[in-house]
Amino acid sequence: MQIAIDGPAGAGKSTVAKIVADRLGIPYLDTGSMYRAIAYQVLKSGISAENEEETVKIASAANISLDHLNNRIYCDGQDVTNEIRSAEVTSAVSIISAYPGVRKRLVELQREEAAKGNVVMDGRDIGTVVLPQAPVKIFLTASLAERAKRRWHELQKAGKAAIYETIYCDIEKRDANDRSREYSPLKVAEDAFVLDTTAMTVQEAADCIVDIIRRQGN
Ligand code: CDP
Ligand code: CDP
Repeated sequence: MQIAIDGPAGAGKSTVAKIVADRLGIPYLDTGSMYRAIAYQVLKSGISAENEEETVKIASAANISLDHLNNRIYCDGQDVTNEIRSAEVTSAVSIISAYPGVRKRLVELQREEAAKGNVVMDGRDIGTVVLPQAPVKIFLTASLAERAKRRWHELQKAGKAAIYETIYCDIEKRDANDRSREYSPLKVAEDAFVLDTTAMTVQEAADCIVDIIRRQGN
C-alpha cells in the first residue's frame, strides 16, 4: 500500500499523514525532512544555498537515514531532527530543493524506502514524480491565512517568538518557489483527491483520508 500526500506548507501533511500511517500500522516518511537535512548540511558547511554546484556535491555525498519508529532523521551519523526546523533552514530549503541534482538524489532514496513495503509519504511531488503509481493520492490544502495561523499557534505553543504577518509572507514566498520551479513543481496530480482542510480539525482530515483509502478497497 502506497499513500501519497502532497500539498503546500502548513496544510497539515505531516500531522495528518502520521495519524493515517499509525491507524494503518504502516511507516510514515516525511520527505520534506530530507530536503531540510540537505539545507542544514549546506548551511553548516558555510556554503550559500545559492551555490548550486557545491549544494549538489553535498547532497550527493550525504548519508541520510530515517528512523520511522521514533521519527528521527540522521545525516552523516548526526541526529538532525531538531536542527532542521530552524528559521535559517526553512528559508534555505526551497532554494536548494529547486536544484535537479538535489532532487534526483533524494527521489532515489525515497523510492528505495518505498520499495521496502507499505508507506505513507508526504511532500510536494510524491503523487506526480516519486510514486506516480501510488493507488491513493491526496492533495491536502487550506487557505494561506489558515495555514499561517496554524504555524503561528504552533510557535506560540512552543514558546517561540512569532509574528503572524512574517509567517504569512514566508509561507507565501516558499509556496511560490515550490510551485514555480522547473523540476517537479508543487501541483495537483491528475488522479489526486483534493482535500481542503481550512475548516477541518486534524482528526477530521485524517478520518476523511482513511475513508478514501478504505473506499478504494485498501
Ligand atoms: O513542513 P513544511 O510544509 O513547512 O515543509 P516541508 O514538508 O518540511 O518541506 C520543506 C521544503 O522542502 C518545501 O518547501 C519544498 O521546498 C521542499 N520539498 C520538496 O521540494 N519536495 C518534497 N517532496 C518535499 C519537500
Ligand atoms: O506538514 P505541513 O507543513 O503540511 O503541516 P503540519 O506541520 O502537519 O501542520 C501545521 C500545524 O497545523 C500543526 O501544528 C498542526 O497540528 C496544525 N493543523 C491544524 O491545526 N489543523 C489541521 N487540520 C491540520 C494541521
